[in-house]
Amino acid sequence: MNIRPARVEDLAGMQACNLQNLPENYTMKYYMYHALTWPQLSFVAEDNKGRIVGYILAKMEEDTESEEEAHGHVTSISVLRSYRRLGLAKRLMVQSQEAMATVFRASYVSLHVRKSNRAALALYRDTLGFTVKDIEKKYYADGEDAYAMRLSLKDLA
Ligand code: ACO
Repeated sequence: MNIRPARVEDLAGMQACNLQNLPENYTMKYYMYHALTWPQLSFVAEDNKGRIVGYILAKMEEDTESEEEAHGHVTSISVLRSYRRLGLAKRLMVQSQEAMATVFRASYVSLHVRKSNRAALALYRDTLGFTVKDIEKKYYADGEDAYAMRLSLKDLA
């Protein structure tokens, strides 16, 4: 399985993968915004026929109004069911984290995850070393709470 930076022509495949895997879905305009603004941060996993089997959609949060340091944010990541537990999500996360740190000098990466999402929580907390920064009540449209998680990228810069 190959991991490579996402290109504009991959966005439809990424959206299809997202629709199969998650209830949080986005307009094509939002995918395009990521790909055009931070082309270094989003990646796809493809099978040997070039079909997209996983993706990470990521961006920078650069709030000029606040004192906060520039940081990366994972908007969405997913891997098609039959390609899970092969290490693809870990590889997608690590590649994006490295680009956040080296290209944009991000000091940390943030994301939101459902409190009930056992697989994703294990990936973030146990495999990658994220910690829970906050609980955002009723963050999701169906009323579920989110963990707001963070990982320092200081070692990668
Ligand atoms: N149960 C327990 N631990 C898990 C599981 C699971 N089902 N899946 C992954 N992990 C943990 C394990 O520690 C695993 O290491 P191991 O296989 O050596 O034990 C580690 O994460 C790395 O796993 P990967 O193989 O890299 O993960 P995978 O490619 O299977 O993708 C993902 C994980 C993205 C969570 C996948 O299950 C998925 O697409 N789920 C549906 C969509 C989703 O929930 N996306 C995240 C939403 S939050 C957000 O997008 C910011």
